Amino acid sequence: MSVGVDLTTYVAGLKLKHPVMNSSGILGSTPEHVERLFKYGVSAVVSKTMTKGFRVGHEPPIIIALEGEGLLNSVGLANPGISGIPPIVRKAKELNIPVIVSVGGSEVQEFIDVASVAEESGADAVELNLSCPHTKGYGIDIGSDPNNVYEVVKAVSSTIKIPVLAKLGLSDNVVKSAGKALEGGAKALTLINTVKSVAIDVFSCKPVFKNVYGGLSGTPIHPIAVRVVYDVYKELKPEIVGVGGVSDWKTAAEMILAGSSAVQIGTAFILKDSRKLVHDIVEGLKEWLIKLGLKNICEAIGLTHKA
Ligand SMILES: Cc1cc2nc3c(=O)[nH]c(=O)nc-3n(C[C@H](O)[C@H](O)[C@H](O)COP(=O)(O)O)c2cc1C
Repeated sequence: MSVGVDLTTYVAGLKLKHPVMNSSGILGSTPEHVERLFKYGVSAVVSKTMTKGFRVGHEPPIIIALEGEGLLNSVGLANPGISGIPPIVRKAKELNIPVIVSVGGSEVQEFIDVASVAEESGADAVELNLSCPHTKGYGIDIGSDPNNVYEVVKAVSSTIKIPVLAKLGLSDNVVKSAGKALEGGAKALTLINTVKSVAIDVFSCKPVFKNVYGGLSGTPIHPIAVRVVYDVYKELKPEIVGVGGVSDWKTAAEMILAGSSAVQIGTAFILKDSRKLVHDIVEGLKEWLIKLGLKNICEAIGLTHKA
C-alpha cells in the first residue's frame, strides 16, 4: 500500500530514516535503555539530560498520572552525570543509530563542559535543555530569557563542532528565544518541554510535589506544543523537532504540518504499548501521505502555512 512513500527527514544535518524519536528523559539514561529504544524502532536516540555531576533529583513522589493521557513529573533532572554519557553513545554507535545527547547546566560553563564530553564520546548532536520547568536554576529559569538563551547557545556552538539543538519551553518569550537560539548558532529547535504546573493534595492541603512545581506532559499539552511550533515556524522557518503529546500518527502529522521536521515522543512511551508505538506512527504517516498525494514527508513540513 505504502510503497514509494519516503519518510526520510533531516534535522540539524542528521539524516533520519523517519521522523520519530524518543524525547529526553524517556529511556535515555543507560545503554540498556538505548537498546530498548532501538528495538522500539526510533530513528535516533535522545539521552536523558546530563549535568556535569550526578544528580539524585527530587524526593518522591516524582510522577503523578492524571485522568486521560497526561502526566505530571517533578523528577528534578536525576541523572548519572557526565560519566553516563560515553556508555550511552557507545551503545548507540554499536547499534548504528544516531544519538543526540541532552545537555543540562546551571551556568554557561557547565553546558560547555557537558557538551564537550558528548562530542568527545562521539555523539552526533547535542540538545541543550533550556526548558526544564521544575528544577531551580536549570532549564526554563535560563531559557525564558532570550539573552540567556543566546549566551548559552553561542558559547556551546562556538566550542563544539557537532550540531547544537536548543530545546525551549512554553514562555511568553518563546518566539524571541527561538530567534536568539538560532542567532547563537543552533541548527535546530526542539519545541517544547513539559509545562510548569502544580498539583495539590486536597486532604493535606499541601502541594503534592515536595518541590511544589511539576511539568505537565502528554495529550493535554499537544495543542499548546502545536501552537508553539506553528508560531515559531511562521516567524523564523527553522528546523524544528516537535514534542508534546505526540501519541499516534495524527498528532505526529499535526506537528509536521505546523512546521516540524521530526517529532519526539515522551509520555506515550510510558502510557501506551511502547513496542508498537513507533511502528504504528510510521505506518500511519505513510498512509496519510498517500491520501494527501505526497511522496515525501519533507513536502508536508509546514504545509499548513501554505494551505
Ligand atoms: C518523566 C519525564 C522525564 C523527563 N525528563 C526530561 C529531561 O531530562 N530533559 C528534557 O529536556 N525533557 C525531559 N522531559 C520532557 C520530555 O522530553 C518532553 O519534552 C515532554 O514530556 C513533552 O512531551 P510528551 O508530551 O510526549 O511527554 C521529561 C518528561 C517526563 C514525562
